[in-house]
Amino acid sequence: MVLGVGGGIAAYKVCELLRRLTESGHRVRVVPTASALRFVGEPTWAALSGQPVETGVWDQVHEVPHVRIGQSADLVVVAPATADLMAKAAAGIADDLLTNTLLTARCPVVFAPAMHTEMWEHPATQDNVATLRSRGAIVLDPAVGRLTGVDTGRGRLPEPAELFEAARLVLRRGATEPDLSGRRVVISAGGTREAIDPVRFIGNHSSGRQGYALARTAAARGADVTLVAANVSLPDPAGVRLVRVSSAVELAEAMETEREAADIVVMTSAVADFRPVTSAASKIKKSGAAPAPIELVENPDILAGLVTTREREGDDQTIVGFAAETDDVIANGRAKLARKGCDLLVVNQVGGGRAFGTEDNQATVLAADGAVVDIPTGPKEDLADRVWDLVVERLPERSS
Ligand code: CTP
Repeated sequence: MVLGVGGGIAAYKVCELLRRLTESGHRVRVVPTASALRFVGEPTWAALSGQPVETGVWDQVHEVPHVRIGQSADLVVVAPATADLMAKAAAGIADDLLTNTLLTARCPVVFAPAMHTEMWEHPATQDNVATLRSRGAIVLDPAVGRLTGVDTGRGRLPEPAELFEAARLVLRRGATEPDLSGRRVVISAGGTREAIDPVRFIGNHSSGRQGYALARTAAARGADVTLVAANVSLPDPAGVRLVRVSSAVELAEAMETEREAADIVVMTSAVADFRPVTSAASKIKKSGAAPAPIELVENPDILAGLVTTREREGDDQTIVGFAAETDDVIANGRAKLARKGCDLLVVNQVGGGRAFGTEDNQATVLAADGAVVDIPTGPKEDLADRVWDLVVERLPERSS
């Protein structure tokens, strides 16, 4: 693996990424730019990687490093990817060891940009990102948060643990093309909460793990991912735009907004079917008498609503639902697929310790075109990748 380090302050976070990569058994060759070494010195990279560290093309020339390092890599990760470095990569400039390596590498390349918001949003940078993506590179959108100095905004390097996950998921796909590149994906995850009063709610056990696994795997396949998260307390996946909601009504509004630009919409969230008619303004107290009943009203069916909007707008979106069933899994699933009108319904059996909050999942995918696909028990990211395979098979041809 090659870890290219650009000249940004976030280089210090990349030491942690390097540590995680080497500890999980990867042989990592660090190739910093000259400016990266102004932030973190050569001895740090050499000690953490256990490999020699060079920046220019004039060291160890007899080994032809400017060609060999790229040729022999299984994965190149560039973090932080500065605006300057991505501009050079997009233009094919090769003026140091890292930019030479980028031209010779034939393996997957992941860029993790980090810079000030203005630099990220500049049309020059956005054009370079689009160019790199169109050539098959995975460019992770930077995270939102504290930047250098007093600024906050989009431009932060994602957390090292999440960069490690992104690298791992790209690597495990091997040399395959990122088949969701250029596709905009919106995924809902987690479980809604319907307020009874300021401290109590009606909720469910959904952890959001399956939705987050779908978001991470989609990003690793090159998609532009928006994750609408309802009450999820998992780390923010690298390269994914997060929208946070709480109630079903908020989720419905967010999904109707986000669906507009989406090629694929996936509803993994557990939506409360009912909400209290009113939410008390202050905490409900015991009065000594029998408690007042909580009157409920039905929530909108968000998935069915998204299908209706698609038909009305004449879009060719692919829409995927998830169904949790405790019994008569397939029969209930078929009826639900017909009722909701989505393209795929991923049906899993819940209860008895299955699905909620666990690392593993199993499912049967029912397709509107009649296909039935069993996905055996395995990690949620394996299930996610199988779902993406089924989605990719059904995507309409690109117009361009
Ligand atoms: N869903 C939704 N809006 C709702 C309820 C569910 O969008 N108000 C979505 C879920 O996100 C999921 C799919 O519909 O993708 C199936 O959810 P599930 O809870 O299994 O189905 P329900 O419609 O609630 O049906 P039932 O309660 O009869 O099982």
